[in-house]
Formats: sequence, C-alpha cells, structure tokens
Amino acid sequence: MITFDRVTKRYPDGTVAVDDLSLEVPTGGITVFVGPSGCGKTTSLRMINRMIDPSEGRVLLDGVDVTTVDPPTLRRGIGYVIQQAGLFPHRKIVDNVATVPQLLGWDRRKARDRAMELLERVGLDTGLANRYPFQLSGGQQQRVGVARALAADPPVLLMDEPFSAVDPIVRASLQDELLRLQAELHKTIVFVTHDIDEAVKLGDRVAVLQVGGHLAQLDDPATLLARPADGFVREFLGRDRGIRRLSFVPGAGLGLRGDLTVPVSADVASARGTAEPWLAVVDPDGGPLGWAATAGLPESGTFEAVPLAPYGTFVRDRDSLRAALDAALLSPSGNAIAVDDSGRAEGVVTREVLDEALVLAAREASRVAGETRADEGPGEAGGAREAADGR
Ligand SMILES: Nc1ncnc2c1ncn2[C@@H]1O[C@H](COP(=O)(O)OP(=O)(O)OP(=O)(O)O)[C@@H](O)[C@H]1O
Ligand SMILES: [Mg+2]
Repeated sequence: MITFDRVTKRYPDGTVAVDDLSLEVPTGGITVFVGPSGCGKTTSLRMINRMIDPSEGRVLLDGVDVTTVDPPTLRRGIGYVIQQAGLFPHRKIVDNVATVPQLLGWDRRKARDRAMELLERVGLDTGLANRYPFQLSGGQQQRVGVARALAADPPVLLMDEPFSAVDPIVRASLQDELLRLQAELHKTIVFVTHDIDEAVKLGDRVAVLQVGGHLAQLDDPATLLARPADGFVREFLGRDRGIRRLSFVPGAGLGLRGDLTVPVSADVASARGTAEPWLAVVDPDGGPLGWAATAGLPESGTFEAVPLAPYGTFVRDRDSLRAALDAALLSPSGNAIAVDDSGRAEGVVTREVLDEALVLAAREASRVAGETRADEGPGEAGGAREAADGR
C-alpha cells in the first residue's frame, strides 16, 4: 500500500503543486490520479519514487517513509512509464527492455530472454525486438515502455500519461492490454491522466485533483459518476454521466428469451402466426445473421430467402448493461442479441427486460447519490442541491 500522509510540495519559486494531500493507494489495484493540467499529478507521482521529495508530510510505501530509502533501492521495486515511452534511442528494443534486469546484475542472456517474454506479454511482435525505437509506431513504443517497466517484476508501477500521445484506437487497445495484464499481475498501479474517460475505464479508484494540488474526490468510478462531490468534479466528469455509469452495471443478470431466435435453415412456415414482430436469425453455428420481420415473410421456403435487418450483440457474461443497451439500439426490434464468448447467440434480451434493468440501475444511482458521506455533517444536502441544479 502507498500512503500519502498530509503531503505538501512547495517548489522553490513558491508554487504549491500539492496541498496537504492524504490518500491511500491499495495494494494490487489501479488508482488513477486525474485532473486538469497543472493540478499536481506528476508531482504527486514522483514523490512516490523520490524523483521529488515532499516539503511537508510523508509518503509511505508499505508503512516505510520513502525518504528513508535511498532512491536506487526504492526504484528497484517501482516501475515507471512515461508519455512517449522515453526509450533509449540508440538501444535496440530488446536491450531497452533488458536494461533494468542487467543493471540488477542478471546475465545478458537471462535478461534478454526475460525481455522477449515481456515483449510478447504486452502484445508486441517479437520480430520487432532488434529494431531501434524510431523504427516503431508510437503505440508500439508505448508497449515497449510498459514492458521495460515490468522487466524487474516490480510490485509497484507508476504510469504518467503513458497513452496520451497515441490516436484513440491505439489508445483503447493499450488500455485493454493494461487491464488484461493487470488481471494476471495484480501490480499496485498509480496511473496519471487528464482524460476522465480513461480514468473511469482503468481505475479501481479514481482521485480527482484540482489545480493547487487539492484532492476533490476519491471514489470508485461508479460512485464518482453517480455522486460527484462538488461542482468542480461534476464539470470535470462532463456529460453522459448517467449513461457512462451503466458501464459498471453487469449485463450478466439480464433475463433471456430463447424463443426469439430461429435457425436460418428453418421453414418460414414455422414462424407464421407468431405475435412477435421480429425474430433473430442464426447460422448453423449459432452466430447471429440479422433480424427477420415476421410481417413480411414469404409464402414458403426457409429463412435463407428472407431479407435481414441489422443487429447488435453483447457478451452477456462479460459486458455491461451499457453494451446491452447499445446492442438493442442497433437493432430495429429494440432487442439485444446476447452471445457467448465464441459469438454464439444465447438468446434475446428484450427491451422490456432492458427497461426494467435501467430502472433498477437508475434507482441504485440515485441511492448512491443520496448517501451522506461519513465526513459530511448532517444537513449538508449536497446531493439534493445538485439535483436542484437540474444537471
Ligand atoms: N520544478 C518546478 N518548479 C516550479 N513549479 C513547478 C515545477 N514543476 C512543476 N511545477 C508547477 O507545479 C504545478 C503542478 O505541476 P505538475 O507537473 O505536477 O502538474 P500535472 O498535473 O502533472 O500537469 P500536466 O497535466 O500538465 O502534466 C504546476 O503549476 C507547475 O507549473
Ligand atoms: Mg504531468
């Protein structure tokens, strides 16, 4: 665990970059520091590995004040990833990743083997190992940066806007990769970003900082979205808070209808007389093909000859209510096709079922928003005031 205990950082020119910051970063989770430019994110991060020392207060790593540990020893247990990767330009990719193990005295061969294993782990083609950084795309360099930080298997990883310099699609895949890695590795990660969407996607907990290095709110993403602590946080979270919060409601509990799918080889006669306006047609492997309107079915033949309308799917075991709603909105029926991991249709979630789930989600969000925080005195009706703002 990393603890900030009343930490203040005042630079020599008088700038207060971090002001009386107290928070805990739990072991094995991702804590995100998010906030506008200049709010003290980088300064806070660097006080963990002693690139900067606090002016007041203490930063503790598993209970030990980091300023009592000499920086090289401290940094052995702390990987560090920065924007644009910061790779050594004149060293090959494999040697970039092997740097820290070699500094730690591993023999060259073992360090290189480890580097190759890590390149694979972060989703990089090992054929790139003998290139130089300038021969890689920005996204690839960023993956190398993550591999390098993981090379000595440190329990703690500090990441300062690591994905900010790449385009949105590459960025999303780097984020997914990080979540996948973290599910295996359970590092204690402090991740800095100024992008609130990235923060709520990656963080187990999100700390919103305000200019002046003041902690505005620290919560899990679903709570943050339901219950911004004040106007600053609400503004910073931006629009669509309600919709975005649905990303944290699992779709796994949604009830399925098995009678709304039909194999493409079935005779259309089997569907005649049904009261259902739409049926989901599936191929012989169970993969969805589209929606058939039962009102316009031909006289005879199979569903092969029936024109099909577009559809949306979601993976019921894994995806959120937001994904289910999205799938429904992509289908003329307003129903979502639930599929398993291999893409086979499991059944259909109707809009009535979705509607019920949305009402429950809304009630839960309102309940969270209405909760009084332990540190708020009674009578401080923050939630009610926000509601009255109409935002
Ligand atoms: N060496 C320094 N001397 C004086 N002021 C500094 C120094 N380094 C940073 N600052 C100031 O401290 C404040 C916080 O800086 P910091 O780099 O921590 O912000 P940040 O949240 O990481 O911003 P960004 O999102 O732009 O990276 C800013 O006002 C910055 O100008
Ligand atoms: Mg910064």
